[in-house]
Amino acid sequence: MDNRPIGIFDSGVGGLTVTSRVINELPCEKIVYFGDTARVPYGSKSKKTVTKFAMQDVRFLLSKNVKAVVIACNTVSSNSIEDLKKEFDIPIFGVVEPGAKQAANVTKNTNVGVIATAGTIRSGAYERAIKQFNSNISVYSKACPLFVPLAEEGWWNDKITYLTAQKYISGLIDKKIDTIVLGCTHYPLLRKCIEETVGPDVSLVDPAYETAVALKKYLFKNNMLREGQCGGHEFYVSDITETFEKICFEALKQKYDAKLINIEEY
Ligand code: DGL
Repeated sequence: MDNRPIGIFDSGVGGLTVTSRVINELPCEKIVYFGDTARVPYGSKSKKTVTKFAMQDVRFLLSKNVKAVVIACNTVSSNSIEDLKKEFDIPIFGVVEPGAKQAANVTKNTNVGVIATAGTIRSGAYERAIKQFNSNISVYSKACPLFVPLAEEGWWNDKITYLTAQKYISGLIDKKIDTIVLGCTHYPLLRKCIEETVGPDVSLVDPAYETAVALKKYLFKNNMLREGQCGGHEFYVSDITETFEKICFEALKQKYDAKLINIEEY
């Protein structure tokens, strides 16, 4: 038994979709969430900057005495997970490997599409990870930078979002993909639009779910599950914005107040 909380962080609010999956899988755990809302987006920044920010994010979570850290951000998972694992002596879970494993399991025709931020696509992390599970798979990647602001605007079912999706994804459909990885934590908010754009023959992989399952297995195997009371989650941000409230309610179906912290101090 280990009753310390699980730390989850993201560049902002997208990680709340991962948090929702973790809460579903591990309802008795307490979550401490940090969203770096002052410095979002990470997806357009260099590896060096993303890694520096991520180090501070983890240091903040460690100050809350967490027992494990979930990187609920594809950009950080793609660019910085090795550096974070080297720096911190705590179990760290990224979203890329579980998502890649699931994509490799799901595809039947070995044509997999990956949509993500520019930073995630540039890193090549999904392509490498998917090919590690099955080197015969062809991976077709597409950066979709407009999806993050559209998701944050709440235009989940707007005509503009459908047109944008069409423009980004049609090239992948031409490659006859049968599986597409939602390689950014904002994209599950656009799931309906993406699903309808790719059509019924393409399976969607949400790495958030796979990550929550991997975390659950690890905590169980290492006798680190929480016992006793459930919940008591805490949310922290580096800037108070309306977006947090909106996405928090959409992802978690509950209102949580976020506390403001100065991430530069960590
Ligand atoms: N959370 C980021 C990701 O999953 C998307 C937002 C950003 O660019 O910071 O890559």
